[in-house]
Amino acid sequence: MKTIIEPFKIKSVEPIQFTTEAERHDVLRKAFFNPFLIHADDVLIDLLTDSGTSAMSAKQWAGILDGDEAYAGSRSFFRFEKAVRALTGLKHIIPTHQGRAAEKIIFTIMGGKGKVIPNNTHFDTTRANVEFSGAEAVDLPTDEGKKPDLIADFKGNMNIPALKALIERVGPRNIPLCMITITNNSGGGQPVSMANIRETKQLLKQHDIPLFLDACRFAENAFFIKKREPGYSDKSAASIAREMFSHADGCTMSAKKDAFVNMGGFLALNDDSLAVNARNLLIVTEGFTTYGGLAGRDLEAIAQGLEEIVDEHYLTYRIRSVEYLGQKLVGGGVPIVEPPGGHAIYLDAKRFAPHLRPDQFPGQAIVCELYRAGGIRSVEIGSVMFGKYDSAGKLFSPPMELVRLAIPRRVYTQSHIDYVIEVVLDVFARRNQLKGFRIVEEAPVLRHFTAKFEPLAS
Ligand code: F0G
Repeated sequence: MKTIIEPFKIKSVEPIQFTTEAERHDVLRKAFFNPFLIHADDVLIDLLTDSGTSAMSAKQWAGILDGDEAYAGSRSFFRFEKAVRALTGLKHIIPTHQGRAAEKIIFTIMGGKGKVIPNNTHFDTTRANVEFSGAEAVDLPTDEGKKPDLIADFKGNMNIPALKALIERVGPRNIPLCMITITNNSGGGQPVSMANIRETKQLLKQHDIPLFLDACRFAENAFFIKKREPGYSDKSAASIAREMFSHADGCTMSAKKDAFVNMGGFLALNDDSLAVNARNLLIVTEGFTTYGGLAGRDLEAIAQGLEEIVDEHYLTYRIRSVEYLGQKLVGGGVPIVEPPGGHAIYLDAKRFAPHLRPDQFPGQAIVCELYRAGGIRSVEIGSVMFGKYDSAGKLFSPPMELVRLAIPRRVYTQSHIDYVIEVVLDVFARRNQLKGFRIVEEAPVLRHFTAKFEPLAS
């Protein structure tokens, strides 16, 4: 088989900044060892997130110029609505400025004290919005999904027996909706199978509980189904995506991922009275129903992006380029979550730096060293992001300590990725010298964004 190449030519470029190790040492110190506090100009390869960092196509930029900025009834809204409806088949399409705004709306209406929201794994903003409403966010990953070194096709799946047990324990009336996150971001960017979506829906239907998809990376999930699930190899990614949505009663979407845009999102759902409430709240917090916190040009770019994302040359390149990074790291002995996910490679910090305890934040130690050694920005997904304290102030850690190398869409070429591989292998060779961290300042929610750290002496 020939090399799978980038299915695009580069028309417009942006220089990246080179810094020395000494300069980066200083940058890190001034940013309190938190990559979110680093000036992006001081980053060489930015793998902090794949969200809002994609390269738009010429046609998307053309849409930006062509956007209709009418306050109400904009032509761009109708193009956007048509594209989202063609994809999801859902009745009410409500634009929001990004994914978490859709989450805020849905959980304000459906969440609240005493309510329980299950999800295969909540993303951090989803969990925060559920909890902010007073409801409880319950993660129900499968046992396979919790084992970073286990190779399986659909490690993002919902744990259906656990969901059944939860419904029996708390009662269906206390579960206003159930979510499935595709792909499962916090669980390693792992896909969810069609069978799992279908069976989850069947169980929920018996109890009249609606199923919502957190659909940020729906196209990557659809492509994994095509490649891995029996019966789907001849179907197009677009038709697989439509089938996934056909099981859902609604979805939240951050278009900053699988629609290639820098900003945007939506809430889509079938229930008429829920849609009335959602639109009323939208008007209060986001904007009128035909723009919802976005400019008309953004809606154009989303509509175009949703068409491009299901192109199979793109998806083949996308999934292969992430897999390439994963395979080279595994080849060098680096422990990662296997198999590689759709949008990112997750280093397994527990096995990478086993001499550091979770309360010494091994993931943060790796994040800082990748930046210091190579100017690569990544993010910890472990005890910094999800750690909680008990009443005695003792840290409760999540099951996995990960470092995410998220790959922006259509932005970096293979030589950028080869450089990333070299830096990770270099840091891995020196892993025994990595020092832990302690937190010196933190916010009560989503602390990873602003926390300040101090390196431990030994
Ligand atoms: N759900 C998932 C699964 C996500 O990954 C994100 C964002 C959101 C919801 C919220 O969307 O950012 O548009 O408000 N994930 C980004 C990331 C930030 O880096 O993984 P948003």
